[in-house]
Amino acid sequence: MNAKKFIENQVDEIAGTIGREKAISALSGGVDSSACTVLAHRAIGSQLKSVFIDTGLMRAGEPQSVAAIFAGLGIKVEIVDTKKEFFAALKGKTDPEEKRKAFRYAFYSSFGRQVLKSRAPFLIQGTIAADIIETQKGVKTQHNILEQIGIDPQKGFGFKVVEPVKELFKHEVRLVARELGLPEEIYNRMPFPGPALATRIIGEVTPERVALVRAATVIVEEETAPLKPFQAFAVLLADKGTGIAGGARTFGDILIIRSVESKDAMTAEPSPIPFEILTRMARRITKTLPRVSRVAYELTSKPPATIEYI
Ligand code: XMP
Repeated sequence: MNAKKFIENQVDEIAGTIGREKAISALSGGVDSSACTVLAHRAIGSQLKSVFIDTGLMRAGEPQSVAAIFAGLGIKVEIVDTKKEFFAALKGKTDPEEKRKAFRYAFYSSFGRQVLKSRAPFLIQGTIAADIIETQKGVKTQHNILEQIGIDPQKGFGFKVVEPVKELFKHEVRLVARELGLPEEIYNRMPFPGPALATRIIGEVTPERVALVRAATVIVEEETAPLKPFQAFAVLLADKGTGIAGGARTFGDILIIRSVESKDAMTAEPSPIPFEILTRMARRITKTLPRVSRVAYELTSKPPATIEYI
């Protein structure tokens, strides 16, 4: 694929489709939505409004660092704080599928409000070829935003969806993102699920439990960075384990370190992390997070396990 040519064609096509109208883009910092946002910005400039929905479930500093990267490219990103809405939607929920549904509903209702507020008749979506294939197969259902928020793009409000990278696969989107001048931390970004840290918490998703997983994730990402795993992260279990602190017995949280190697996320193997790095992560996690009494490394492949925990 010729990334330069692809960019030229897409910029022309987006400009032609949108004309003098407005468009809105939901940016997550992932490579797909990032590439689409830059393409659309090149095509229509200030007619594009880019929003980052801050669910309260992103990794440490992610909304701000993504907005800063885009500011550096001359693209203003509005961070929409929807933390309260997401934690309210997830409150009391422990069933994995219910948690996913609650997240999806909160996402589409808050993004839907932004779309209506902006009065933009066009939505820029980072749908890629694999999403379309998986949606057709019934593996994923969350990609058609308009249907999810109950809007029929044709009849309802006349919204039109523009999907500039829908014919590309992930590795091709990475090439385009690189050619667009996005930094490596974006074009080589580790996959991160839509429902974010909620997929790494067993049991209820509360602000305190998210903060714990977020802090442990920083340590896991730092320590495994030189090994360049496909994905590496921390998971919080719902059970407790006995520990000792200051000579007294404690009953603390149990964290799992998950790191996998994969090409396409359809199958995965546990990363062969040197023992020294594993024990250093465990030490750092228990030292920084005294609530944690146990840290374990996961050895399961996909299948039979999935990569995420919910
Ligand atoms: P699983 O856990 O199914 O994950 O083995 C496969 C890959 O997909 C990511 N993932 C998601 N991505 N929305 C997404 O955009 C989701 O709901 C979702 N669930 C899992 C996961 O991180 C892995 O790369």
